[in-house]
Amino acid sequence: MSKSSLLLVSTIFIAILTSYCCNSFPLSTQKRWIIDDATGERMKLTCAHWVGHATPMLVEGLDKLPIQDIANQIAKSGFNCVRLSYATYMFTRHANDTIRDTLYSLDIPKDVVSAIEKHNPLMLNMTHVQAYEAAIDALGEKGVMVLIDNHVSMAEWCCDNNDQNGFFGDRHFHPDEWLQGLAFIAKHFRGKPNVIAMDLRNELRGGRQNLPDWYKYVSQGASTIHKHNPDLLIVISGLNFDNDLSFLKKKTLDLNFTNKLVYEAHIYSFSGNQDRWNLQPMNWVCSSVIENLNDQAGFLISGNNPVPLFISEFGYDMTGGNAVDNKFMPCFVSYAASVDLDWSLWSFGGSYYFREGSVGAGETYAVMDYDWKNYRDPKFPQKFQLLQKKIQDPTSNLSKSHIMFHPLTGKCAHANGSNNELVLGDCKSHSEWSFEGDGSPIRLMDSAMCLKAEGEGLPATLSEHCLSPQSSWKSVSKTGLHLATSHGNGPLFCLEMESDSSKIVTRKCICIDENDSSCLDNPQSQWFQLISTNFS
Ligand SMILES: *[C@@H]1O[C@H](CO)[C@@H](O)[C@H](O)[C@H]1NC(C)=O
Ligand SMILES: *[C@@H]1O[C@H](CO)[C@@H](O)[C@H](O)[C@H]1NC(C)=O
Ligand SMILES: *[C@@H]1O[C@H](CO)[C@@H](O)[C@H](O)[C@H]1NC(C)=O
Ligand SMILES: *[C@@H]1O[C@H](CO)[C@@H](O)[C@H](O)[C@H]1NC(C)=O
Ligand SMILES: *[C@@H]1O[C@H](CO)[C@@H](O)[C@H](O)[C@H]1NC(C)=O
Ligand SMILES: *[C@@H]1O[C@H](CO)[C@@H](O)[C@H](O)[C@H]1NC(C)=O
Repeated sequence: MSKSSLLLVSTIFIAILTSYCCNSFPLSTQKRWIIDDATGERMKLTCAHWVGHATPMLVEGLDKLPIQDIANQIAKSGFNCVRLSYATYMFTRHANDTIRDTLYSLDIPKDVVSAIEKHNPLMLNMTHVQAYEAAIDALGEKGVMVLIDNHVSMAEWCCDNNDQNGFFGDRHFHPDEWLQGLAFIAKHFRGKPNVIAMDLRNELRGGRQNLPDWYKYVSQGASTIHKHNPDLLIVISGLNFDNDLSFLKKKTLDLNFTNKLVYEAHIYSFSGNQDRWNLQPMNWVCSSVIENLNDQAGFLISGNNPVPLFISEFGYDMTGGNAVDNKFMPCFVSYAASVDLDWSLWSFGGSYYFREGSVGAGETYAVMDYDWKNYRDPKFPQKFQLLQKKIQDPTSNLSKSHIMFHPLTGKCAHANGSNNELVLGDCKSHSEWSFEGDGSPIRLMDSAMCLKAEGEGLPATLSEHCLSPQSSWKSVSKTGLHLATSHGNGPLFCLEMESDSSKIVTRKCICIDENDSSCLDNPQSQWFQLISTNFS
């Protein structure tokens, strides 16, 4: 065998290994990136949440599908990881109770219990520890990584300021029992290659929150996990429902295993003042939401000592019925793509056995519908295609180029080689562009062609007239999410997706004035952003 074919064979062998299990190696951090120790390459976490912390203390959906099918569907939906929630008492008080006994004690209706038994015959006889482990193993078989999420201590729907599950010292949040739970899990799942991380606690909150206790218990929790399982990443939440890490600007967390620490934050349309989305120009609201996120958490990934930030919850009503969510999501998505964040979407499963007194409650913020069979939002795969891709890689040798992204649809711009028009398509095979900044042409890489506006309502084209005023572009508005050019001396024209088509035309810019508070039209069909990438 020649050396080169040996190399080929071993490359294929490694490729098979890594495609089977993308995650057989511990992860660490390096500046703001999460890195696979074995290859030194960036591992971008693109996770979905799977609820296991609610009152029944059992991963949801087992009344709808076999556990292996759920794991398979998660992998097929493009997620490489699951944020799998648990309640501390599952391990510290109910570890040896069977699922059957718990479901009976909660008066879960017989048809739900028998549906679980039908799809997952072994599950009812399992203990809570075994059932949780079965979910981890089912995910591992599909190559899906697991972040073990301590969502509450007492199993229940979360989260409320007064639920006594919110901060160290609350009635259901005794620090010793919490540490005991962390230690048990760190030890028990040690050696499972797809368990890559544990978090300390979801959404710290409530009247007891204070910074001295935060530094004290967060240090204890992280050290406990690290002592029992030094391979794991440790995910650390801030205060106020995981909205605020700004206090780290003044005082960092002083731990001696810094290459394992990842910080997390949550953001939803309702995290701040959601009425604003209906009352003020959308470019104003979006820029202020992102500014606020940066101030509370986003600052962590930049500066002199950057650390990884994991947006461990965000999401939208996937039925399409929440107008504010529909405005918020493209705004957040544009930010997440531009800095290429690691993230976990709330949530995967479309229903609950029992939530807040309601049997068989639905989850509108779920990828899957009520029966866990189809996507709730048929456009979900397209909307998440770019977010599920690695956009920046600190070890890449490729030179930088830009993706032209349309956050409303999740699509990317392509040059149509047949008619030289700009069109929207998928993001797997997007065109690559170079752009030197405001006032420059947007060039198609490795060609002599530049993007040119042809007139109101007409498709933008690729042309060799790179120095024409209609080929000089700048990003405008408070968000910078409009790509505009002028037709001679006239007003600015912006790229715009032609409704319900893949065409991209230029039209009068919508509500880009920074001072006009009365402009309330929806500009999102015109939101285009040039995202820097060095990964293909
Ligand atoms: C469960 O059983 C094991 C083995 O008998 C025991 O060591 C452990 O303390 C029990 N856990 C709980 C929470 O009762
Ligand atoms: C579950 O346990 C019960 C008794 O505790 C037993 O009769 C039954 O056969 C078990 N079911 C399975 C699938 O192992
Ligand atoms: C890290 O700190 C802990 C507790 O402060 C100490 O026990 C441990 O030896 C330290 N480890 C290293 C590698 O310095
Ligand atoms: C980048 O180039 C260096 C030096 O040529 C090489 O060692 C490294 O493997 C390359 N990295 C990638 C990701 O190709
Ligand atoms: C590209 O242009 C050709 C020729 O005009 C047209 O038939 C085709 O539909 C265009 N492709 C897209 C994706 O718009
Ligand atoms: C908006 O108002 C500020 C202060 O009045 C001014 O400096 C700025 O130029 C105005 N912006 C636009 C786009 O008119």
